[in-house]
Amino acid sequence: MNTTPSSLKICCIGAGYVGGPTMAMIAKQCPDIDVHVVDLNQTRVDQWNSSDLPVYEPGLDEVVQEARGRNLRFSTNVDQAISEADIIFIAVNTPTKYFGIGAGRAANLEFIEKCARKIAECSQGHKIVVEKSTLPVRTAEAVKRILNSAAKGATFDVLSNPEFLAEGTAVQDLLHPDRVLIGGESKEAVERLVQVYARWIPRERILTTNLWSSELSKLTANAFLAQRVSSINAISALCEATGADVDEVARAIGTDSRIGPKFLKASVGFGGSCFQKDILNLVYLCEHFGLREVAQYWEQVVVMNDYQKRRFSERIVRTMFNTVSDKKIAIWGFAFKKDTNDTRESAAIHVCRDLLEERARLVIYDPRVPESQIRSELEMAFADLVGGLSDKHKKLIDANVTVATDAYAAAKDAHAIAVLTEWDEFKTVDATRVFEGMRRPAFVFDGRNILDRENLVKHGFEVHSIGRPSLAHI
Ligand code: UDX
Ligand code: ADP
Repeated sequence: MNTTPSSLKICCIGAGYVGGPTMAMIAKQCPDIDVHVVDLNQTRVDQWNSSDLPVYEPGLDEVVQEARGRNLRFSTNVDQAISEADIIFIAVNTPTKYFGIGAGRAANLEFIEKCARKIAECSQGHKIVVEKSTLPVRTAEAVKRILNSAAKGATFDVLSNPEFLAEGTAVQDLLHPDRVLIGGESKEAVERLVQVYARWIPRERILTTNLWSSELSKLTANAFLAQRVSSINAISALCEATGADVDEVARAIGTDSRIGPKFLKASVGFGGSCFQKDILNLVYLCEHFGLREVAQYWEQVVVMNDYQKRRFSERIVRTMFNTVSDKKIAIWGFAFKKDTNDTRESAAIHVCRDLLEERARLVIYDPRVPESQIRSELEMAFADLVGGLSDKHKKLIDANVTVATDAYAAAKDAHAIAVLTEWDEFKTVDATRVFEGMRRPAFVFDGRNILDRENLVKHGFEVHSIGRPSLAHI
């Protein structure tokens, strides 16, 4: 194991899904490094300091508990944390811009710019500034310019160190990453950060590149991953039309070592804060550089994902005799994947919106997502960017959405169940109990292909899965 000077102080601006877990892991693995995570959001900071963390991740509680109060702090003291730190990570959100130039595609860099100005204002001496947030290529240059022009005598090196953790497996991903990527111009600054990660990650897994390669690699990795999901989802539509089984196709192609088995799970559509945002960002970059065909190529990944989400809700309506009006539909799962409480861009939001437009009555259950968050996501889905949420849509949501406390309660008296997140607990529900409580025919729409279809059919259900022939008891 390498050693790092014990006086090293790290600050991270942004205590979200990336900043919080990443810094907790650095603090856990390097007890002699002082890690201070700051955020403007007092509620979020309070949650990080409590036993009820704002981010649900298996194993994260233990990591935070080990380091918090020892060498890990969460606070809103942004100025102080910056001024004390040697290395400053920027891990703030970079949502897709919804206004002005590049609306709907470009990343909104407002929060990054504010951080850079704050760092310039509060720094003395020399600081290493690390971009952790996913950013368009050449953002580091903008950050550098802001730092240097606004600096009060301090000097800076800017590094790009994109995070590749996936939510739901963040702790394992941080403990044993496939690779850590560090891009930068200054060899000394790069080496300083390498030394931090080298405490627990084998040196050969720490890749160093130039700044722009590092920034572009993150966008490219997410674009390739999302592309795989859209590719298998495209094939799922063909499977439904032809009678092939998408899980069998995925297994057959995944055993080809050149293709590999991971990320071939057909679904109701990918969600999360990264895939769509990063692809749109890539599309915007390509358009900016006049690469129209390249932009169109990548944009299809998002187009296919939108199609997949829409196709799923349309299938529900079509199967249920072309109307779901006033029918009760149980929604199992609202998070964008299992083992997280994150709902950003979740496919469930789109499916629920479509079903509400068809006047269905929804009873939603998710083991980790609170009711207030479900309602706020649905309200945002109906809101128009300029006028906000209309009274009509507010009433539609209030009258037709109920949130249940377990999967059985959600399915009680329902005409159908739609599985939208692959939570493990849905695989082991008591099928007899669910079936007895439901209306007939009892439809199941499995948007994640996780349920035991044969077993459900034996119990009397009619089962519709993604990319597989429908099954019903004869
Ligand atoms: C992703 C990248 O994996 C990660 O490296 C990056 O740092 C952030 O973006 P995340 O969005 O947290 O991580 O989760 P991921 O596991 O990639 O899943 C994204 C979406 O794709 C989820 O909605 C998931 O359900 C869906 N998905 C994934 C599928 O539908 N099928 C698959 O085979 C894999
Ligand atoms: P991610 O998934 O990228 O971590 P999140 O939205 O979960 O994104 O977290 C980003 C965090 O950054 C939020 O808690 C937000 O309050 C914080 N943040 C945004 N801008 C600033 C800023 N200028 N200073 C401090 N914190 C900020």
